[in-house]
Amino acid sequence: METQILPINDYSIKLAAELLKSGEIAAIPTETVYGLAGNGLSAQSVKKIFVAKNRPADNPLILHIPDTDWLYRYSKSVPEPALKLAERFWPGSLTMIMPKNNIVPDETSGGLTTAAFRMPDNKYTLKLIELCGFPLAAPSANLSGLPSPTEARHVYNDLNGKIPLILDGGSCSCGLESTVIAFTEKGVKILRPGGVTPEMLGEFCEVEIDKAVTEGLEEDGKAFSPGMKYKHYSPKAAVYMIECGDYGDFIEFVNNNYDENTLVLTDVAGKIRAKTLSYGNTDKREAAELFSALRQADELGAEKIYVKAPEKKGIGLAVYNRLIRAAAFKVIKL
Ligand code: TXA
Ligand code: MG
Repeated sequence: METQILPINDYSIKLAAELLKSGEIAAIPTETVYGLAGNGLSAQSVKKIFVAKNRPADNPLILHIPDTDWLYRYSKSVPEPALKLAERFWPGSLTMIMPKNNIVPDETSGGLTTAAFRMPDNKYTLKLIELCGFPLAAPSANLSGLPSPTEARHVYNDLNGKIPLILDGGSCSCGLESTVIAFTEKGVKILRPGGVTPEMLGEFCEVEIDKAVTEGLEEDGKAFSPGMKYKHYSPKAAVYMIECGDYGDFIEFVNNNYDENTLVLTDVAGKIRAKTLSYGNTDKREAAELFSALRQADELGAEKIYVKAPEKKGIGLAVYNRLIRAAAFKVIKL
């Protein structure tokens, strides 16, 4: 199959809508990362997504909707706080889990009785969903296990020949996948941190952060969100996350422990003797550039990547969560 890349516009979304209505799948831009979309109400389409990505079938997909009202079409009961959060954060990087109804097939929900919903912040993608008339199920458009794609060419590198169409909407502004929350008696629980931070959610309700966000799962630990149990975001190089307060300590560690195949992700290359790759000078930029930097490190043939652990607050918590997985929990504490 030939994979076509088209800039996203009024013309290409019509083409994509026809393709999706016929049961095919296509990559779409969102503000977080690129998604690999299919008809979320069609078991056949959803199966194509799992095959193209090589994704385990028990890892459920997010349903992307263009209007909060659509929640009532596909959810058995919409939790009251969901409406408040939707009003504040949608369109945007917040995914909410709630009971699904029978219209949503088991293939989409990975066999769970719940489904995840999100309204992405891309006006063409929202128009595309309206044209389709059904919610688009879309996981990140990478091969399972690799860093999520934040540019159309990342999708092409992973899925060329496996999908018919990629809609190119440029670089994703957030760069990390959405914040995934479940509702609890008292408020919400963050299962995956993202652009909508605990602090932002905290203005509306009580916020709990799942232990698995910053720690590994115990041997027999059951993941509340199935996605959390898989190895994730891993480039070919071995990633080491260095936890230390002081930047000077980080530089000293790197300078004592590098070789010619080591790459350091940093915005202050000055005193570092190893090769460096520039990456983020604010926590927002770190989030936006992380996945792209990990892919670039592979292209450069790096064998070892050193990166300083971000502070676990604001969007830094999301960067920490992706890094610790990319590092397969290899954290060096100085
Ligand atoms: O920003 C995003 O969320 C991107 C864009 C394309 O929207 N999508 C994305 O999808 O990251 P994916 O499939 O890579 O991650 C979805 C996460 C997984 O960890 C999955 O386990 C979790 O959401 N999830 C989905 N439905 C769930 C459910 N019913 N219960 C618990 N976790 C769920
Ligand atoms: Mg993913």
